[in-house]
Amino acid sequence: MPYMIRVLFVCLGNICRSPLSQGVFEHVLRREGLEGEVEVDSAGTGAWHVGHPPDERGQRGARKRGIDISAQRARRLILEDCERFDYILFMDEENRRLVEPLCRGPRSRAEVRPFLDYAPGRSEREVPDPFYGGSKGFELVLDLVEAASEGLLEDIRERHLKNGSG
Ligand code: 4NP
Repeated sequence: MPYMIRVLFVCLGNICRSPLSQGVFEHVLRREGLEGEVEVDSAGTGAWHVGHPPDERGQRGARKRGIDISAQRARRLILEDCERFDYILFMDEENRRLVEPLCRGPRSRAEVRPFLDYAPGRSEREVPDPFYGGSKGFELVLDLVEAASEGLLEDIRERHLKNGSG
């Protein structure tokens, strides 16, 4: 079986920002015909919403951009994720404080960094938590993760797919 690049998006609840990141990035991969080369998943540092579908407001915002995230279910980040994924991309500095120590073990292989590192054209460095706000917050999340998804695609092409189908 060909080697798959694995990308994991991480936020706090795994019902708003990281499911939207997963949906948007999967959409970009399909557009590029790369869905067979890159596996995408998402997880939360907290466990309150485990098993839940993405927040309705996020589902609605994604649907307006032609992206269906309704089949996703929240799960919690686990130690094995650090060993399995090539990229673990978190949304804000609060996430960083939990993800970085977890992924410091000897078997960790993931590149752990803020997702917005891949959106250098945006002034924001964190994807703001939209949970307690209105639909505008979800629109901003979508704008930010769309921008970062394009940068991430380029990074994966450069570093992993140069001699293949990329
Ligand atoms: P997320 O948003 O981390 O983007 O999924 C949140 C979802 C739920 C909560 C906080 C943030 N919560 O406190 O339940």
